[in-house]
Amino acid sequence: MTDVTLKINGETRSASVPPETTLLKMLRENFNLTGAKLGCDIGDCGACTVIIDGKSVNSCLMLAGQVDGREVLTIEGLATPDHLHPIQKTFEDCASLQCGFCGPGVIMSAKALLDDNPNPSVVEIRDALAGNLCRCTGYTKMIQAVQEASKVMRSDTVRRLAKTNG
Ligand code: FES
Ligand code: FES
Repeated sequence: MTDVTLKINGETRSASVPPETTLLKMLRENFNLTGAKLGCDIGDCGACTVIIDGKSVNSCLMLAGQVDGREVLTIEGLATPDHLHPIQKTFEDCASLQCGFCGPGVIMSAKALLDDNPNPSVVEIRDALAGNLCRCTGYTKMIQAVQEASKVMRSDTVRRLAKTNG
């Protein structure tokens, strides 16, 4: 068995898993975090996307043992009990998802992008979402939602800075 201790959504968690266990399997089966989805299991669809130390990754391609000591953010870590994350809210407002299966992965890819690049171009958004497949909605509304979220997040940052600076 492999012992793994990591931070998930800000909380330290531990598990003992067979060495071949993927991060996705551990998240879903050991920690009951089922937001990241099992689609292809070979790195093609992006449904399993999570953020590790600030970078979006396909959790089906990583072994649980590889995340020992690292920080993982999953879709469950985005919203607070009272508020959706701005990206979740704009996806809702723009009706960017239909069945929703791809949604957690797409939103985590968008989050990694906006954390790194608060004002991305359409080409940069397309590029960031290129590894996330959607069979229902198409990508136009997703791109629109990411653009809207980038505006909201930038104005939130300006408001926060204005408050801090008195
Ligand atoms: S399930 Fe991981 S990329 Fe498809
Ligand atoms: S909304 Fe159904 S796969 Fe994307």
